[in-house]
Amino acid sequence: MKLSLMAAVAENGIIGCGLDIPWQVKGEQLLFKAMTFNQWLIVGRKTFASMGKLPNRKYAVISRSQHQSNDPDVMYFTSTEKALEHLQTITDHVFVSGGGEIYKMLLPQVETIHLSTIHKNVAGDIYFPELPAGFSLVFEQKFSSNIDYTYQIFQRDSSDS
Ligand SMILES: NC(=O)c1ccc[n+]([C@@H]2O[C@H](COP(=O)([O-])OP(=O)(O)OC[C@H]3O[C@@H](n4cnc5c(N)ncnc54)[C@H](OP(=O)(O)O)[C@@H]3O)[C@@H](O)[C@H]2O)c1
Repeated sequence: MKLSLMAAVAENGIIGCGLDIPWQVKGEQLLFKAMTFNQWLIVGRKTFASMGKLPNRKYAVISRSQHQSNDPDVMYFTSTEKALEHLQTITDHVFVSGGGEIYKMLLPQVETIHLSTIHKNVAGDIYFPELPAGFSLVFEQKFSSNIDYTYQIFQRDSSDS
């Protein structure tokens, strides 16, 4: 099963302020919507509480507490390990979709990173973890908007390169 990660990060490393994303950038969300259409997303309980359930996405929500779900497209797990163990029996691709705690836990395991850098310094308290070594930039596209942003794709270097 392939693990991809998708995040939007301000220039000063901020991804969130409390439960909110502290910017509104016209067009940027389209990338997320397109990439995650009909995909499984793994998210922290706070991110799920904040973003809610988008249609045409399936959610594995991580929480230390037990939760019940009547929605077949929303499943709760008490650890990322349990979530990945189950997800690999039902899909071959999962998007790690935040927030900060979930990115930090799963970044060491992801193969592809889709990163939008929002070209602004913003106030906030949730940071994206440092990008580890061993990733190469394979795609970059700059966008002009009410706040300019740059979309990049990083691919983990193969172990024999
Ligand atoms: N800019 C972006 O691309 C982006 C994307 C997504 C989210 N965000 C932002 O990120 C912020 C939320 O991030 P966050 O770091 O505060 O929270 P989070 O990662 O979304 O969720 C944290 C929660 O996950 C659960 N959890 C964490 N570690 C766990 C573990 N080891 N075992 C079991 N459960 C565990 C806990 O849930 P319980 O408390 O229920 O136990 C914890 O409170 C928001 O501001 C959101 O808007 C930004």
